[in-house]
Amino acid sequence: MSNLIEQLQWRYAAKKMDPSKPVASEKVERILEAIRLTATSSGLQPYEVIVVTNDSLREQIVPHAWNQAQITDGSHLLVFAAWNDYTEERINTMFDLVNDERGFVNEGWENYRKMLLATYPMRDAEVNYQHAARQAYIGLGTALIAAAEEGVDSTPMEGFDPEKVDEILGLKERGLRSVILLPLGYRAEEGDWLKDLKKVRRPKEQFITEMK
Ligand SMILES: Cc1cc2nc3c(=O)[nH]c(=O)nc-3n(C[C@H](O)[C@H](O)[C@H](O)COP(=O)(O)O)c2cc1C
Repeated sequence: MSNLIEQLQWRYAAKKMDPSKPVASEKVERILEAIRLTATSSGLQPYEVIVVTNDSLREQIVPHAWNQAQITDGSHLLVFAAWNDYTEERINTMFDLVNDERGFVNEGWENYRKMLLATYPMRDAEVNYQHAARQAYIGLGTALIAAAEEGVDSTPMEGFDPEKVDEILGLKERGLRSVILLPLGYRAEEGDWLKDLKKVRRPKEQFITEMK
């Protein structure tokens, strides 16, 4: 079996983490870099990752996240926070960065910029946020794989009140909305009902359709 598949078999959404085992910062850095390098629609990267290690902030979040203790028992809490809207400024900043980094202006790319500028900013902010949030989920998927590859446990969490988390972390003022939480840590030897249970997935035939 490939190492990646083995690690994906190993990973699970840890229900209890061991607070005495922090994740080494080099591992966290590599997980964050994997997220930064993943794909987003039009390359806009319309979300940010907030890394919360501050105990008080994490303690404040727990009651608004179904009291899920992995948030404080893990050592790092990643918060995927999507842009609340696509503005002209945000789109231009990203296209300008590409031009600056590549050192030339490409006509096709500029036409694509114009097309996005003529489409996204005038759409309803909620539609734009939903699109940005979908990009954050791609980041989440990448983070889950990167953490598994590093032998780090994680728990993807939709079970929280985004408005409260936005308030606690001051995200609204930054034009961001929390989409998903991902505590990182190590599974606790005791007290995790899921730790030794079989990973269950639909059989391949029910999941993949081959059209030859
Ligand atoms: C988007 C998303 C949201 C989730 N929210 C929670 C959550 O709030 N709490 C939790 O314990 N697990 C949560 N999970 C974990 C899933 O229940 C879990 O990934 C699924 O049952 C598959 O099992 P495994 O990841 O342990 O292999 C979430 C997973 C995803 C992908």
